Amino acid sequence: MAWSLRRHTLTRIFFALSLVFFVRLLFYPSSWNPTPSTFLEIQEYNVFERVTGSDKTLNVQKHKNLQSRMGRDERPDIFEDFISNGVADYWQRFQKPYIKGKETTHMDVQSVLTSIEHLLSLNGWVAAYCPTLARPFGQNKNQDEDAYDDLAREDHLFYIAIAIHSADHFLVDQLAVIVQLAKRLGTSNLFVSMLDYDSTDSTSTLTDLCEAVLTLLGVPFRIRRVPGMTEDPTAAYYPSEEAYMRNLALEPLGELYHKRNIKFHRVIWLKGFTCPNDILETIKVSIANEAAMVCGMDWAEFNGFFIFSDRWRTRDIHGDQFRQSRSSSKPDAVPPRDEVGAARYIDHLPFQVFCCEAGTHIVDPAQSYYKGIQYRYGEDYHNVSSSDPQPPRPSDASCLDSTQAWFCRDLWISKALEGVKDDEVSDESSRQKKKNAPKQNSPKQDAPKQDASKDTPSIVRRQPPPVDPDANAGSDYDAMPDEDLHFEDLPVGRLSIPNSVYEPARILINPRCVTTYAGVSHTQLALDLFGTGDDDGAEGNATKYVLEDWEGAPEVFVCQEQSQTGGRKASKTQRLLGFSIHDELERL
Ligand SMILES: *[C@@H]1O[C@H](CO)[C@@H](O)[C@H](O)[C@H]1NC(C)=O
Ligand SMILES: *[C@@H]1O[C@H](CO)[C@@H](O)[C@H](O)[C@H]1NC(C)=O
Repeated sequence: MAWSLRRHTLTRIFFALSLVFFVRLLFYPSSWNPTPSTFLEIQEYNVFERVTGSDKTLNVQKHKNLQSRMGRDERPDIFEDFISNGVADYWQRFQKPYIKGKETTHMDVQSVLTSIEHLLSLNGWVAAYCPTLARPFGQNKNQDEDAYDDLAREDHLFYIAIAIHSADHFLVDQLAVIVQLAKRLGTSNLFVSMLDYDSTDSTSTLTDLCEAVLTLLGVPFRIRRVPGMTEDPTAAYYPSEEAYMRNLALEPLGELYHKRNIKFHRVIWLKGFTCPNDILETIKVSIANEAAMVCGMDWAEFNGFFIFSDRWRTRDIHGDQFRQSRSSSKPDAVPPRDEVGAARYIDHLPFQVFCCEAGTHIVDPAQSYYKGIQYRYGEDYHNVSSSDPQPPRPSDASCLDSTQAWFCRDLWISKALEGVKDDEVSDESSRQKKKNAPKQNSPKQDAPKQDASKDTPSIVRRQPPPVDPDANAGSDYDAMPDEDLHFEDLPVGRLSIPNSVYEPARILINPRCVTTYAGVSHTQLALDLFGTGDDDGAEGNATKYVLEDWEGAPEVFVCQEQSQTGGRKASKTQRLLGFSIHDELERL
C-alpha cells in the first residue's frame, strides 16, 4: 500500500495525541478530578486570550457557547477508573501546582503555544501526502503556503459540517484537514459542526479528540451525538435519516444566523477524505461561479482499481446517471454521460450537473439554507413493518430518492423563483437563447437516451457493484447496477413552458476535487486521473474555474427510489420521471 504509515508521522500523531490528552485535562478537569473550579482558575490568567488574541466575530473566548458538546457518550469504559485515577494523580501533583502558580504562568503560555504549533502541523496519515499528488494546472506544484492567500485575505467565514455514522477510519484525517484549513483560513473563521449519528465504533472517542484539538486551537465547534431514529436500524427509512442528520448538523448555522446575524460564506460538507488544497480550490470554483453547490468526485477502491462511486445521488445535466467508470477510463467512457460534461471532465474542468453530492461538497448558504431550504425526503414510503399492504403509487408520483436529490431539485426551483432568464441585457445572452431554442423544438436531441444507449462501456457492464457493509465506507452500494431504462417512452418536449426559460441553478462538479475512502492508493489514483498533472491548456482562471454557458434543468431524470423502509440496504427501483419547473412553481 502506497499509503503505508511512515514512522515519523506516527510519532507526530502520538505526540499530538498526548498533548491533546493534556489539553483535555486542562479543559475538562471536572470529568477527571473533583475540582470543577480549576478551569475557571486557569482562565483567570487569560492564557488562551493571550495566545489567540483575536477580536473576531467567532471569538470563542468571548462567547463560550461557541464551543459546545451535546449528547456526549457517557457510557462507562472498562479502564475508566484506572485511567481517571492516574490522570487525577498526574493533575494534582504535577500540573495543577504550576498552572495555578502566578510565577509560572509564562510557562503555560509557552506550552500552549508549543502545543498549538504542533497541532497546526497535524497532517494525518493521508493528508501528509497531498502535496505530492499529481494535480492538473500545477495546482499542487508551487506548493508554497500562500497559494490560497487571496482566499484567506477575504476573511470570510466557513462552516464545516460532518455527519458521522460509524466512520472512525477517516475521522483523524478529517480532523487533520480541518486543522490545515484552520491554519490557512484562520482559526476563528471556521465553525465545525460534527454530528455523530449513533456510531457504534470508536467515533465517540475520536470526537473527544476533535473536541480537545479544536478547543486548544480556538476553533468554534459543536460536537453532538444523537441516538438513531429507530431502535432497529433495518426498520429505518434511510432518506429520512439522511435528512435528519444533515439538518441537525446545520442547526448551529441557523442559530448563528437568526440569533446573532452571523453569516457564513460557504458551507463545506466533509465526506470521506479530501486533500485540503482540493477543498480550497473548490471553494474558489464555487465563488468564481457564484455556484449554489460544487461537488468533488468520489473514488472507491474496487478489486485493485478505482471506480466513480455515489451514483445514487449524481445526475448529469440531462438528468442521466453517471457511469461507474474506472479512474483510468477511456474518454468515451468517463463518468458523466452528457457530451459537454464529458468533454470538460476530460479537460479536468468544472462541469454543470443536475445534481451531485459525490464526496466533499461546498454549498452557498445564501442560495439555500438562508432561504429556508432544508433537507427533506418523500414521506409516502411504505413501512414494511406495518401489516398494511403497500398502496399503489401513480406513475408520476414524486421520487422517493435521496435527501440530496430533493435538495438539488429545491435548488433548481428556488433559483427559478428569481425569474426567467434576462432577455434584453446583452446580445450575448440573446444569442445564447437562439442557440438553445432549436433544442427545445427537437427534444430527442436532449434526451438522455442518446448518450445512454450509444456508449455504455463494456467495462462498466461487467462490474458488479462492490459490497461493503460499512455505511460510510464510500462504497457504491447506494446505487443500482446500470440497466437500460426505456427511454422510448420518454415524455420529453411535452412542457408548455420549458425549464430552459428559468434561471438555472448553478450546480457543478469539480473533477479536480478528489474524495477517497480507506484502501485507496492516492498516488495511483492521481496518476490515473491527471497523468503527470502537466496540463497547460487552460491558463488563467477564466477557463480554469469559470463555466460560461449554463443550461436549464432537464425535463426528465433517472429517479432511483427507496420506496420502503429497510435501512440503507433497502431495495431500490428505478423509473424515469418528468421534471417541470413550471409545474413545481405552480404547486408552491
Ligand atoms: C415502521 O413501523 C414500526 C412498527 O410500527 C416502527 O417501530 C418503525 O419506527 C417504523 N419505521 C419508520 C421509519 O417509520
Ligand atoms: C483570477 O482573476 C482575477 C481577476 O482577473 C485575479 O485578480 C486573480 O488573481 C486570478 N486568480 C488566479 C488564481 O488566476
